[in-house]
Amino acid sequence: MDKVVSYMIHQIPTNANVLDVGGGDGYVANLLLSKRSDIRVTITDIASNVGSFVEHTNRNRLTVHPSTDISELQGKFDVITITDVIHHVPTALRQEFFAKISSVGKEVGCSKIIVKDIEPEGFRAKLALLGDLFITGDRNVVQLSANEILFPNFTKSDWAMPDFPNYCITFLSENVTNLR
Ligand SMILES: C[S@@+](CC[C@H](N)C(=O)[O-])C[C@H]1O[C@@H](n2cnc3c(N)ncnc32)[C@H](O)[C@@H]1O
Repeated sequence: MDKVVSYMIHQIPTNANVLDVGGGDGYVANLLLSKRSDIRVTITDIASNVGSFVEHTNRNRLTVHPSTDISELQGKFDVITITDVIHHVPTALRQEFFAKISSVGKEVGCSKIIVKDIEPEGFRAKLALLGDLFITGDRNVVQLSANEILFPNFTKSDWAMPDFPNYCITFLSENVTNLR
């Protein structure tokens, strides 16, 4: 995950207020907070137990919203991060999820969405899938290719495969790209 987070920290603007959707135990949020002392992170998740992995020294820059649907969120956020979440969203609900992220993004003033997920190719991707299906027990998991991720009103601005099969995509709000 270190290579992925190293990519992500270069995509996050100075002093950013980051909304980590599906942040879970806070493993990624903790790495981001440790590597970027200027940012704040808010984790929101439909799960009830979130952020337990975040170190004490980073907690003063962390807010958590457990058992929360993203549409309930209020506030201002510069960036939305979504790491290893989309492959857990049932396939039939993914377009709705993308539309919801886009509309929440607009409401909270977010100019950038950063997604990390797993390309469904090769041995490591298979291992990750088996882990999700049989260790975490989420039978809805279906991995998706980077080119299947599209957020209405956001444009893909950067793409990287920092640690195959893990990819990262950065999307910019069209409000921002239109100002260029
Ligand atoms: C594999 S964990 C990833 C946790 C963390 N983002 C990371 O990379 O370590 C997937 C998380 O996505 C959350 N999740 C799944 N669907 C979600 C949704 N529709 N809205 C918010 N969180 C969701 C799950 O509850 C879980 O905590």
